[in-house]
Amino acid sequence: MSQTSKTKDGPDLEILLQNNRNWAEQVRQEDPEFFPRLATQQKPKYLWIGCSDSRVPANQITGLVPGEVFVHRNVANVIGSDDPNCQSVIEYAVNALEVEHIIVCGHYKCGGVQAAMQGTATGIVADWIASISDIWNAQQPNLAALPAAERLAALCELNVQHQLKSLAQSPAVNEAWSQGRALSLHGWIYSIEDGLLKDLGLSLHDQAGVSALG
Ligand code: CO
Repeated sequence: MSQTSKTKDGPDLEILLQNNRNWAEQVRQEDPEFFPRLATQQKPKYLWIGCSDSRVPANQITGLVPGEVFVHRNVANVIGSDDPNCQSVIEYAVNALEVEHIIVCGHYKCGGVQAAMQGTATGIVADWIASISDIWNAQQPNLAALPAAERLAALCELNVQHQLKSLAQSPAVNEAWSQGRALSLHGWIYSIEDGLLKDLGLSLHDQAGVSALG
């Protein structure tokens, strides 16, 4: 099939392919060496671990172009110690790409966090967000004291903190720190309502800082 032929899948997909051709052409015009340069290697400084939510695209909201950020996204930005998908991304980013910063980015109004709070998730998603349900159950007395409208936001922030701690315990991060390599972990949260990121002030630069995270 030629690049420009119509697919039987219709205009919903055709527009994506057309957008892609326009984008690639625009990039080539602005920087003819962009693609040849990227083709030789990737050397991103950052690993982003965020939610799959379509409203939180890592590159776009941070102004980064292809090649500048290694990305892992899943429902509710969960970092499971036994999740080979997430852990292999972390290992590769730290050991092979030698990223200097790992950003765990949650977002307010996260559907996964909300489902954990309300107990409405079913099937595989319920299993996936079990660690967030555990946070909710453990923190419920504190969170219940907040106005109802603030509870979800607070749990979204607590989830970032929890996942950041999980990240700090991952083998690749520990190995890097024990070797004295410069690697910082950061907890951020994104507001869909105004498009702004907030640093939660939880950054970790070595093993010593982890216990203070709570
Ligand atoms: Co989400």
